[in-house]
Parts: sequence; structure tokens; C-alpha cells
Amino acid sequence: MRFLARTLRGLEDVAAREIAGFGRVRRERHREVWFSAPEPDPRLLGLRTIDDLFLLVAAIDEVGHTKADLVRFTTAARAADPVELLRQRGRCGGADTATGVDVAASFLGKRNYNRFDIEDAVGIELSRALGLPYHSRRGGAAPPEGTLSFRVTVEGTRAALALRIGDRPLHRRDYKQESTRGTLHPPLAAAMAVLAGVRPGDTVLDPCCGTGTILIETAALVSEARLLGSDHDPRAVAAATANGPATTWLRADAGRLPVATGRVDRVVSNPPWDRQVPAQGTLSAQPERLYREVRRVLSDTGQAVLLLHEAEDQFTAAKAAGLRVRDVRQVSLFGAHPSVVTFTV
Ligand SMILES: C[S@@+](CC[C@H](N)C(=O)[O-])C[C@H]1O[C@@H](n2cnc3c(N)ncnc32)[C@H](O)[C@@H]1O
Repeated sequence: MRFLARTLRGLEDVAAREIAGFGRVRRERHREVWFSAPEPDPRLLGLRTIDDLFLLVAAIDEVGHTKADLVRFTTAARAADPVELLRQRGRCGGADTATGVDVAASFLGKRNYNRFDIEDAVGIELSRALGLPYHSRRGGAAPPEGTLSFRVTVEGTRAALALRIGDRPLHRRDYKQESTRGTLHPPLAAAMAVLAGVRPGDTVLDPCCGTGTILIETAALVSEARLLGSDHDPRAVAAATANGPATTWLRADAGRLPVATGRVDRVVSNPPWDRQVPAQGTLSAQPERLYREVRRVLSDTGQAVLLLHEAEDQFTAAKAAGLRVRDVRQVSLFGAHPSVVTFTV
């Protein structure tokens, strides 16, 4: 069986690493990992570093830039066997029935057609084959629940036609009952835990935990890690407690942590200096205190993985605190381009 996983830009290789435990990675490209697996495996819907998972229906080659090339999408949709696709989707843990068809398309580079042209070329064909209504996205309305969601992506001259397995994108998590401003995209939180190399038995601290996304994702990836989340804002601590009741959460200032020196194996966090959430407490006047505290609580083999906007502006303070920059990886996150920075001591 062939699959297509969608990721954030910059996390393709992290997702490929997680996927390698389930199947054979065939291709990594912009925001995508294509892979195959011998059997349908409902555990695939538990992949945490990807945004969404699809059955790969067709790889379409020689897709050009002109309107005449739209026929390539129509032809691929016509060649698909929708009844078999529904069956495969069911075997992978998705629903095997549907009430309609919708298509979302995206492409890189300039073309003489737009996304809606692609969507209609595919959607009209598939709705005819399935005998189900097609819900075009031209008007901007979200498709009703229960539709089969197809995805078309085009990069260079190669396109993918794919069918979402779940009934909603995988990046939406059931545990997120409580949210606050600046809450982190769960697959990015999971990728940060992977990049931190959290191992069973490690003590992991998020000193600016917000709603708890990073540690909740860490718990799902690594059993038996000891997790501690803290935040200056009591509403954040309450939200984290509601979202992840199994973890220890407490109210604390990240510039003055109630944690013994050298006791933490991994710090994984996105601190408050972005556009959405202001620094509070001691960090509002002395942001460098965060780095001093991170260095103090880390063991001699410890590492910190932090999501930073304008990361290089932070390096002087981090280095002065005794942290060394080991890796910088830029990601694209809804129009922003923060970096995941790995520090060692
Ligand atoms: C970008 S948010 C973190 C979001 C979190 N990762 C999530 O998924 O919800 C930054 C957090 O830092 C907290 N914060 C601000 N100043 C702080 C301080 N001095 N000590 C601890 N936390 C602080 C804010 O309350 C906010 O929850």
C-alpha cells in the first residue's frame, strides 16, 4: 500500500524517521513523505510528527504549466478505483463510507491554472465514479462532515493525488480541550521531542509549558519519561492540567525555577518571546535568565531544544549562560519561520 504524509516545511526528515518504523520511505519532497507499507496498519493514524496521512492514489508525471495540463488530473482521477480506495481506507482505520467528495489542491511555482481548476478536474470525476455529491471549495465554504477528502499536490512536473484516511487532519488532537494564545502545533511539539532524543527514564522539563502540548506529545512518544511542566500564568497551568492530567504541572517563573541543579536530562520548550505571548515575571526585564536557569538545571549530558523566533538574537545570551548551539533548523509555521535550536551544555 502506498501512503503520503503531509508535514510542516522543515520537518520532512523527522517525519520520515518516525514513518520508517512502519513502512519504507520512498520519497521526501516539499512538506511530504511518500512511503509504502506491506499491510494496512491502524497505528499509522497514531504518527505524531506528521500533519496528516493519505492513501496515495496516483503519482502523476509530466504535469506542465498550461490549462491543457488539467486533463492529466482528470485522467488520474478517472483511473482510480474509488470503491477499492474506500475499502483500503477502512482497513487503515478510516471510515469505509462517505457522504460526498471534496478536494484540496496546492502547487509550487507559477501555473496558468489555479487550485480550484485542479480541484474541479478531480472532484467532478471522482464524484461521478462514486455517485456522491462534489463539494467545491470555490465559494470558500468548508465541506460538510463525512465527505471523502482528496488532496492534490504539485511540485515541479510531478503531482500526487491522495485520499485522507482519517475524518479530520491528524494534527488535531483530542486532548486539546483547553487552549491559550500561542499554543503550539502538536506535530511540531512531537518533532521537538524527537529532536531532543528523549529516552525512557529521562527527566524532561518544559519551563514555559502553556497548555502542555510539548510534554503531552513527549509522553505519547516515549513511555516512562519523567515529565515536569511549569508556567508563570496560572491559566496556562490549569489548561495543561486539563489537557494532560497524567503529567506534573506547576506554577513557576522560568527565570527562577524550583528545580534542583543538574537534575534534568532534556529541556524542550517554546519560550514566550514571539509575537503572540509576552514574557512575564522575571523574564520580562531579564530574558537571559531563562538560559541561565536552563543551563543550571541540565545535567552534564543534558540538551535543550527550544523553538525560537529570530533565533540568532538569542545566541549571545544562551552562550553566556554556558549553552552551545549544536543545531539550527528552520520550520515554516503558518507564515512564520521560527527555528528549532538544539543546545548542549
Ligand atoms: C509560546 S507560549 C507556550 C505555548 C505552549 N508550548 C503550548 O503549546 O501551549 C509561552 C508561554 O510562556 C509563558 N511565560 C511567560 N513568561 C514566563 C515566565 N517568566 N516563566 C514561565 N512561563 C512564562 C506564557 O504564560 C506562555 O504560556
